[in-house]
Amino acid sequence: MLAEPYRIKVVEPVKIPSRKQRERILKKAHYNIFNVRSEDVYIDLLTDSGTAAMSCNQWAGIMLGDEAYANCRNYFNLKRAIKKIFGFKHFVPTHQGRAAEHILFSTIIKPGMIVPSNMHFDTTRANIIANGGKPINLPVNDAYKPFKKAPFKGNMDTKKLRKLLDEDSEKVPLVMLTITNNSCGGQPVSMKNIRKVSKICKDYGKPLFIDACRYAENAYFIKEREPGYKNKSILEIANEIFSLADGCTFSGKKDALVNIGGFLAMNDSKLFEKVKQRLILVEGFPTYGGLAGRDLEAMARGLLEGIDEDYLRSRIAQVHYLGKRLNEEGIPIIQPVGGHAVYVEAKHFLPHIPQAEFPAQALVVELYREAAVRAVEIGSVMFAEKDEKGKTKYPKLEMMRLAIPRRVYTNAHMDVVVEAHVKISERKEEISGYKIVKGSGPLRHFTAWFKPVK
Ligand code: F0G
Repeated sequence: MLAEPYRIKVVEPVKIPSRKQRERILKKAHYNIFNVRSEDVYIDLLTDSGTAAMSCNQWAGIMLGDEAYANCRNYFNLKRAIKKIFGFKHFVPTHQGRAAEHILFSTIIKPGMIVPSNMHFDTTRANIIANGGKPINLPVNDAYKPFKKAPFKGNMDTKKLRKLLDEDSEKVPLVMLTITNNSCGGQPVSMKNIRKVSKICKDYGKPLFIDACRYAENAYFIKEREPGYKNKSILEIANEIFSLADGCTFSGKKDALVNIGGFLAMNDSKLFEKVKQRLILVEGFPTYGGLAGRDLEAMARGLLEGIDEDYLRSRIAQVHYLGKRLNEEGIPIIQPVGGHAVYVEAKHFLPHIPQAEFPAQALVVELYREAAVRAVEIGSVMFAEKDEKGKTKYPKLEMMRLAIPRRVYTNAHMDVVVEAHVKISERKEEISGYKIVKGSGPLRHFTAWFKPVK
């Protein structure tokens, strides 16, 4: 068995507040984990985004930041790395993924347009809505079967895509594909599915944009699970994925192992001209976007480290270690375990709490109360919405996500997380549901205030 392909050079101390303190902290935070101070968290699994430990090579790159307004050297290093992996003709740096989404959608969406995807993440969905568009999710049916083991549950339902394009083609400015599919459990998308979606897009003359945050993890799963890819390198698989698309939005905070950064890439030169104008308005000059030269350098180096196979093996192995241990303890988690996180199915874990009382939110609160571990709700707080008649529609999956930062925690930390679940499980009947006392809109989960129902 292989351990981590690195040794630890710098450490950051963390503390665990007492149970009494945790109780007070939760109350003060109005039971919204986003309001808890990082210093009061022992193990922070809120997100794998922007939380990676950078390498000595990346930190060395930070010192080589060229902070010129135009054409700094780090821009060209980033350009080389993007060309090597993604291959698109043009790109602009952005400060993170959602800025790339904002620039793309504000440039090409007109009110009333529809943007289909296998599944949009929350910021993608909100950016489409903010520009007057309608986000539509077309996942395969397996995506909604939390305990079914299938290798590529992140796939798009291509029949539904064809049907949508048959009926409403003129309303669709582009098709998106999120790899891996974060909102349905970090599940990968197969090359076969990407190729099929790409073919349909070509048939209808629609550009395909990939939300590529976790493309390297997706490529790793293709190598592991899809026939014909065992002997291909991660780079070759990534090249093949992006050759099937017309562009991508990218958050460097995931697979590029940086704390901030992103980009928007595309082949269409006309679109690129418009994007540059928009970028100058909201992010910055096209060679730095919303970033400092040093950030561009860290991302250029991180992109290359992110496709290293030994790194990816140990990364995914840690996520799967947590999943395996939770499985052994009988905690209901989404199967199979995905790339960046383990997702606990809260409706099954806390069946006495109705969805209207946010069982996944209740579990997030309980995990902090039990062990000062911070997770995030990906369920009804995030995704419930009202239909035309004002009736609340609840999402099919009610999940608590345990997202694992890259190169940050050890498996001993994962054991603490498992133990906390076991303890919660022993007293789960006592756990109350929650109601929202403040907060609305598609991004309410970041700011809402809650109160226990009992
Ligand atoms: N797309 C996906 C699939 C994401 O998971 C995220 C961010 C974004 C786009 C936006 O990128 O944060 O750089 O602006 N996901 C983080 C998460 C926040 O916790 O899953 P960003």
